[in-house]
Amino acid sequence: MFAPETYSSRRANLKTKVKNGLLFFPGNNETPMNYPANTYLYRQDSNFLYYWGIDDAHYDAVIDLDEDRDILFGDDRPIGDVIWMGFDEPFKDKAAKANVTETRPSSDLEATLRRAVQQGRRVHILPQYRHDNKIRVGELLGLNPASIDLHASPEFVKAVIEQRSVKTKNEIEQIEQALDISYEMNTTAMRMVRPGMKEREVFGAVEGIALAKGRGVSFPIIFSVRGETLHNHSHENIMQEGDLLVLDSGAESELHYASDITRSFPVSGKFNERQKAIYELVLRAQLEAIDRVKPGVLNKDIHLEVARIFVKGLSDLGVMKGDPEEAVSAGAHALFFPHGLGHMMGLDVHDMEGLGENYVGYDDETKRSEQFGLSGLRLAKELQPGYVLTVEPGLYFIPSLIDLWREEKKHADFINFDAAESYKGFGGVRIEDDVLVTENGSRVLGKKPIPKTVEEVEAACAK
Ligand code: GLY
Ligand code: MN
Repeated sequence: MFAPETYSSRRANLKTKVKNGLLFFPGNNETPMNYPANTYLYRQDSNFLYYWGIDDAHYDAVIDLDEDRDILFGDDRPIGDVIWMGFDEPFKDKAAKANVTETRPSSDLEATLRRAVQQGRRVHILPQYRHDNKIRVGELLGLNPASIDLHASPEFVKAVIEQRSVKTKNEIEQIEQALDISYEMNTTAMRMVRPGMKEREVFGAVEGIALAKGRGVSFPIIFSVRGETLHNHSHENIMQEGDLLVLDSGAESELHYASDITRSFPVSGKFNERQKAIYELVLRAQLEAIDRVKPGVLNKDIHLEVARIFVKGLSDLGVMKGDPEEAVSAGAHALFFPHGLGHMMGLDVHDMEGLGENYVGYDDETKRSEQFGLSGLRLAKELQPGYVLTVEPGLYFIPSLIDLWREEKKHADFINFDAAESYKGFGGVRIEDDVLVTENGSRVLGKKPIPKTVEEVEAACAK
C-alpha cells in the first residue's frame, strides 16, 4: 500500500467534492470459476483500492459526509478459514494502513445503510459492474439489482473521476513498474516467435511474466496473427512465415496500476515491403500524435489528425483517394481505423470505464459522435497535466468489413476497393504507448523503451 496518509488525504479531498449523505464503497468479493470455492485470481475494486487500499475480499466502506466519519466494515478471518487459507493480519491493522480508525463488523453494514435510508439521507453509490455486488447493493438499499445503475449518483461519479484522472508521482511510479514488466513481456515475445509455433506458446510465456513479476495481466492478452480482429482472444493459430503479429498486453504493478502496450511484429523477424509500408505509416501517425499531446489540446483533434495522416498514407499506397479532409469528415478512414486513438489509464487499464465512458472521456464541451469509428473514441476531451492516456493508432484490413462496404458502395469516392481487397489476409498493425500529460507537453512512460522502429523491432526479433 501507499503511506496511510495517501488514503486519508484522498478521502478528505473527496469529501470536499460531494455535499452530504453517505458514500458507499462495496468491496469486491471472490469470483467463482466453476463452483464457489474455486475462484478466479482475486481483483479488488479500483475505487476501493484508491480510497481504502485494502486488497482483500469481504470488506466494505462508508464515508458519512454529514458526521465526517470514515468507516470500514469487515471481520478478522475466522479460524475455519485460517485453517484452509492461512493466518491473516487483524482487520484493525489493515484499517490502520489506510489511516482508518473506525472499524465495524460486516454485520453492522446493513443497519448503518438502512438507518440512513430511513432518515431520508442520500446514500450515494457508483455504478456496479459485478453481478454479486449489484445484488448485494440492491438488497442493502432496497433497490432492484437489475436496474441498480439508475440509482448511481452523478455527483459521486464525477467527483471520483475528477480525482482519479490526475495521477500523482507515486501513481506514475506504479505505472512505470507495470511498464517494466511490459518491456519483458514484449521483448520476450519478439525473441520467441518462430514460424511453426502455436500462438498459445508465446501467449502463455507472456502471461507468465505478468504473473511472475506483478499482479498478473491488466486485461486478457491479445496475441494473434489475425490482428485485424481488434480484441482477438483466440491463440490457436500456428504462426506462419509471412504472418504479422499483434501483441496488445499489459501488466499490473504491485498496487494494481496498469500498463497497456501494443507492438506489431513479423513472425519471420523481418518485415516484408508491404508490412513495412503500413507499419511505418502507423508509426508516423503514432509519433505525430504523441507530439501533439499537451495540456489544453482536445484528444479528439489528435485522433482526427491521425485519421488524416492515414488517409494521406493510404492514398499514396493506392488504397484510398480523394481529399483527406473530406474523407475524414465523412468517416471513410474508419474502414481501416475503426477504433479510437486511446483511453485514460491508471488503476484500470481503461481507467474508470466502469463509472461511464462519457463521464471519463467527454464533458459539456465535447459530445460523443455517432459516426462509425469516431463513436468508439473513449477519450475526446481536453487534456490536463497529470492525465495518463494511451496513444494507439492502428490500421486493419478486415475482410468482412471490406466486403460489406464494397457491397454497399460505402464511401466509394474515397476507397479503392480493388486495392483494399488485395490486402485481405494482411492482418493489422497497432502501435501503443502510455503517455503522461505534463505541464508543458508529454512524456512517454516507461524507463526502458520497448522496441518500436522497424530496425529496433527486427533487432529484438533476431535475438
Ligand atoms: N489494450 C486493449 C484496449 O485498449 O482496448
Ligand atoms: Mn489500450
